[in-house]
Amino acid sequence: MRFTYIEEIGKHVGEEILVKGWLYNKRSSGKIHFLQVRDGTGIIQCVMTKDSVSPEIFNTYDQLTQESSLEVRGEVREDKRAPEGYELELKDVKIIQIAQDYPIAPKEHRQPFLMKHRHLWLRSSRQHAILKVRDELIYAIRSFFYERKFVLVGAPFLTGAIGESATTLFETEYFGEGKAYLAQTGQLYNEAACMAFGKVFCFGPSFRAEKAKTRRHLTEFWQVEAEMAYYEQEDNLKLQEELVEYIVKWVVEKNKKDLEVLERDLSKLERIKTPFVRISYDEAIEILKKEGSDIKWGKDLGGDDETILSEMYEKPVFVCNYPKKARAFYMKPHPQNKDLVLCADLLAPEGYGEIVGGSERNDNYDSLVERIKEEGLPLDAYGWYLDLRKYGSVPHSGFGLGIERILTWICKLPHIRESIPFPREIYRLYP
Ligand code: 4AD
Ligand code: MG
Repeated sequence: MRFTYIEEIGKHVGEEILVKGWLYNKRSSGKIHFLQVRDGTGIIQCVMTKDSVSPEIFNTYDQLTQESSLEVRGEVREDKRAPEGYELELKDVKIIQIAQDYPIAPKEHRQPFLMKHRHLWLRSSRQHAILKVRDELIYAIRSFFYERKFVLVGAPFLTGAIGESATTLFETEYFGEGKAYLAQTGQLYNEAACMAFGKVFCFGPSFRAEKAKTRRHLTEFWQVEAEMAYYEQEDNLKLQEELVEYIVKWVVEKNKKDLEVLERDLSKLERIKTPFVRISYDEAIEILKKEGSDIKWGKDLGGDDETILSEMYEKPVFVCNYPKKARAFYMKPHPQNKDLVLCADLLAPEGYGEIVGGSERNDNYDSLVERIKEEGLPLDAYGWYLDLRKYGSVPHSGFGLGIERILTWICKLPHIRESIPFPREIYRLYP
């Protein structure tokens, strides 16, 4: 008997196949039983009549509970009315285990309840769709970089040098070596790697002990970071918009069904074409003040400020050249204005806010030492990083794209916590 995954079922019309899965739902007219069976690749409607199976098998219907595991054997039939376009006329049902009181019934549940049962909630069609998009999105990113001959070198997750800011660190004692931090970014190591390989990227988890309890923040999130030797900020921005366009196009093509499950308006995504909008930080402040924000020049944009800006455009918008004092130590000073740095945040439309942060890096030894001191960071932890400015320093730039941020926007989710299989938030470490 041929063991077949539901997504392959269309190749077996008229044949008898075996599906191994779980009961998603069931209904009956008394004479005909309908089982909806899912196997991780899809859901198939299975039909059982008194004529098609033995009486014992027909009566197993009453025993079958939601999420019971089972193997079903039957003939594949084309059926335009069935959700997948096919159904299975059952010949046999083998029960593997009867599930007792599955907690997530097919009805509305509250978020905290669902999050507490995240390990089971992943089986529902909406969560399944989101994580399928996530999977493709990561594939798209890798494909984008490999097509452009970037090398995945990688960065450590335990580090001695603070990558972004001292205020959001997870730290631990590291044997006799002092403090180790969970990486906030792979960037500094990417910079070393790009001097060896030219164009590099890294992909992995980033950790931030964010006290913020918002719909955009996780304490553990996944970031893809690129770093390019001899790229100036303009080249950097071009690459970022190409990447975002590429990802959106890929996902719209490959995840049509999943986006349908999520009731995503595809026309909004189809508009995501380069060039994106660009405004300066100064312009952003002016716009925000007009819109009633109490933001002061010199401060980083707040979540609400980002929402306002990102609702104004149909395409993503770069906010360029922030004040030096609102940004991390490693950014290159603006050549015409010493209070600004050459950086940009890319804000997604529809109110989603920042999805990418990037900058040209400070490639000057003395000015970088000064910035490290100004920020009160321990100079001795950055010896290796400063070496990069001593031995063949060149202009270079890079960026980091948050996987959950872009996924939340593409799927139009109300909260970032649905965009990652097991979210870590300040109040969440279970499951
Ligand atoms: O803007 P960030 O802090 O930039 C960096 O870490 C740079 N070192 C990246 C680089 O240039 N190589 O973070 C980059 C992106 C943000 O734009 C956002 O998409 C995501 O990471 N991000 C978060 N996602 C979820 N939860 C959080 N707490 C996040 N913090 C940042
Ligand atoms: Mg940022």
